[in-house]
Amino acid sequence: MLIKLPRSKPLKSLSSKSTTMKQINTKRSPNCSSSSSVQSTPEIEKKYVHRVYDAIAPHFSSTRFAKWPKVSTFLHNLPSGSVVLDAGCGNGKYLGLNDECFFIGCDISAPLVQICKDKGHEVLVADAVNLPYRNGYGDAAISIAVLHHLSTEGRRRKAVEELVRVVKVGGHVLITVWAVEQEDGTLVDKWRPLSRKYLDEWIGPGSPRVRSVGSVSLESIPETEVSVGNKEVSGDEKDKQQEYFVPWHLPYHRAEVSGASVGAVENGLARKDDVKGAIVYDRYYHVFGEGELERLVSGMKNAVIVDQFYDKSNWCVILEKTS
Ligand SMILES: C[S@@+](CC[C@H](N)C(=O)[O-])C[C@H]1O[C@@H](n2cnc3c(N)ncnc32)[C@H](O)[C@@H]1O
Repeated sequence: MLIKLPRSKPLKSLSSKSTTMKQINTKRSPNCSSSSSVQSTPEIEKKYVHRVYDAIAPHFSSTRFAKWPKVSTFLHNLPSGSVVLDAGCGNGKYLGLNDECFFIGCDISAPLVQICKDKGHEVLVADAVNLPYRNGYGDAAISIAVLHHLSTEGRRRKAVEELVRVVKVGGHVLITVWAVEQEDGTLVDKWRPLSRKYLDEWIGPGSPRVRSVGSVSLESIPETEVSVGNKEVSGDEKDKQQEYFVPWHLPYHRAEVSGASVGAVENGLARKDDVKGAIVYDRYYHVFGEGELERLVSGMKNAVIVDQFYDKSNWCVILEKTS
């Protein structure tokens, strides 16, 4: 049972380039809604996000310990006694970071949630587009590197709405996403852009998946419909490219390889790379262009942007709930 805790000090800005508080534009694009369809998980996320994190959870967790200073600052500036909700908490590296706050994490990946639980954290399996908390439950919420795994604008917007919904008036929400504008541009060359055909069929506004989610299985889509490397994408298209598969290399020597990954290779979820000595999983990413995160949060009448910045190849915003 959680007790209601008072707020005692205002949040400090994280950035010298801090945005002055402004009401978020109330215009929203027509294809975005909070209807139940945005809460149905598209097959691309099931196969290339959820199943991948489930499969790589122990290895992923072993690589995730460095705390991002901007997130640490946000958490350390929260008033003592704040209830902090971490949506998409991964291995829980931010849970408990400020020992004067009470943290609750959630993630779509049950193996990652189990890893958090084993560390003694308060966690549950939940979808970021449908958070299992009542309105105004938390004092603050964070979504660190999660929204770029949602495959439609409607779902990304719904996830923002959920973060705002679950904090109380005056509460703050920190959101970070991967930027198209990567500091190390060579990284992008290691990602696999989704082909035009794939984009039109599965990501675009006319996507059958958006109209009829769940009725089509990605299992039936041959891997050849997904481009390999950048070679199927022209220079122009590459510049506009925002939909990628980002590889995760799971070394053969990891114990997991003997179990789940063997099956994953057999059923096409992963492939072997004998040169690197690893099983390669593709994770779906929608990387954000400049201004896109700000536009995404537009349309929310009950939140304002109190800070926004670019840091270490990520776009970030801090929202304050106003009513
Ligand atoms: C790049 S990791 C970031 C984890 C953590 N926030 C951190 O900063 O280390 C992305 C996380 O988002 C989770 N995730 C992806 N889609 C999700 C969804 N729809 N709902 C909740 N979690 C999701 C993944 O399982 C994974 O743990």
